[in-house]
Amino acid sequence: MIEYIMDIKIRPMTINDYPQVHEVDILTQKQYLGKKFDQMSEKEQNFHLVSRKSEFQTNVDTGYCFVAENKEKIVGFILAYETLPFRETLYIRYIGVNPELQDKGVGLMLCQKLIEKAKQAGITKIWSLINTDNPQSIKLHEKIGFKLNDRKEAILDI
Ligand SMILES: CC(C)(COP(=O)(O)OP(=O)(O)OC[C@H]1O[C@@H](n2cnc3c(N)ncnc32)[C@H](O)[C@@H]1OP(=O)(O)O)[C@@H](O)C(=O)NCCC(=O)NCCS
Repeated sequence: MIEYIMDIKIRPMTINDYPQVHEVDILTQKQYLGKKFDQMSEKEQNFHLVSRKSEFQTNVDTGYCFVAENKEKIVGFILAYETLPFRETLYIRYIGVNPELQDKGVGLMLCQKLIEKAKQAGITKIWSLINTDNPQSIKLHEKIGFKLNDRKEAILDI
């Protein structure tokens, strides 16, 4: 398994990565939502997916989105952006790793690359929303050093 990981390369995401990132996105949403995902309409599925085609270039342009490649195949990705106008803060929107390659350090490598880039850019704080029913995500964030609070979100549909 260690050998497998040796082949993982983390690089900035580009527009050409859309199909493969989308594939990993679907796999991780299916993992999280189970059968419910397959029963959803395309519109509902799109609501849950973070790699929508129409938004992909915007993600690329943040400069804080990276992919993990294993022998030129994308196996994971991280989407993050600066929370302007309050500079110096970065928000992680999503991290996804192909279920077959989870728990092998890929998520950690993606986060480390992001932190390295953020430090270079003068970012001083990174935040993220974590579902309390997601032990893998909690473990990853704790490992990196995030201090976790209960997830509380207020949403107004207008
Ligand atoms: C969350 C996610 C990105 C983590 O990526 P990953 O590559 O599996 O993470 P890593 O291998 O770097 O593991 C980080 C830690 O989580 C632990 N972990 C993995 N699976 C776990 C599980 N089911 N329960 C508890 N901890 C778990 C690992 O053991 C590791 O800790 P360790 O090194 O001390 O053992 C990945 O599981 C994923 O894509 N999940 C589905 C999508 C998702 O929920 N994303 C987060 C929303 S933002």
